Amino acid sequence: MPNKIEWSEELLVNVTAIDCDHQKLFVLMNDIFSTAHHGAAAINTAIGALCSYTKEHFAREQESMRRADYPALSAHTYEHEHLVFQLESMINRLMEVGPDAVDEALASFLEEWLTSHILKFDMEYAAYLRKSGQKG
Ligand SMILES: [Fe+2]
Ligand SMILES: [Fe+2]
Repeated sequence: MPNKIEWSEELLVNVTAIDCDHQKLFVLMNDIFSTAHHGAAAINTAIGALCSYTKEHFAREQESMRRADYPALSAHTYEHEHLVFQLESMINRLMEVGPDAVDEALASFLEEWLTSHILKFDMEYAAYLRKSGQKG
C-alpha cells in the first residue's frame, strides 16, 4: 500500500536527531492506514505506537531545548501539549467509530497535525541552534 502521508524534504530541519524522529513519526502514521484492514485491534496497536513515540519525541526535543538554553522552550512545550491533546481526542474518536474512521480525513488531519508544527515551531528551534552555533 502506498504511503497516505508523504514525507517531503521541505520538512527537514537539518538537525539529524530531530529529522530522524520526524521521519519515524511519518512511518508510524502510515502504519495506521496499512494495518487498518486487519481490524480494530491492529489499529489500536498502531495508534498506541504513534502516541508513545510522539510523547518520546516531544520529550527529547524539549530536553534538547533545555540543554541549548532555548528562550522559547515554554511556548514550544505548550504547543507539544496541545498536539498531544489533539492526538488523544482523535484516538478517542477512533475508539468510538472503529475502522471506518481510518479515512482520507484522518490522513489529512494527521499530516497537517505534524507538518504545521514542524514547519513553524521545529524550524524556529533549528534556526536558533544554527544561529547560536549548537548542534542540539
Ligand atoms: Fe518535532
Ligand atoms: Fe516540536
